[in-house]
Amino acid sequence: MPSITYISPNGTSTTLDARVGDSVMEVAVKHGVDGIVAECGGACSCATCHVYVDAAFQETVGGPGELEDDMLDGAASERLSNSRLSCQIKMRDEFDGLTVHVAPEQL
Ligand code: FES
Repeated sequence: MPSITYISPNGTSTTLDARVGDSVMEVAVKHGVDGIVAECGGACSCATCHVYVDAAFQETVGGPGELEDDMLDGAASERLSNSRLSCQIKMRDEFDGLTVHVAPEQL
């Protein structure tokens, strides 16, 4: 079971087990991780699930798709080169240990 570590803007770290196929957003919401709002429920239409993928996993996880790319332009927090919408990252075994930094503002 791959694990995900969420680092909140205040530095709090939460590590959770994920099922392969679950999104990084779904795991966060299910366990009440602060800062992942996910207003649209994973439809890639709200940009309130913004995270910054840790540098060590950026290449493995890859960049956003076309729609996600457009949505990230409207995210409340600054868009960086490692920005992703967490509902669009579906967990795979090779993502085990993935660390994401929750964006400071989602709305
Ligand atoms: S939950 Fe709305 S874009 Fe990710």
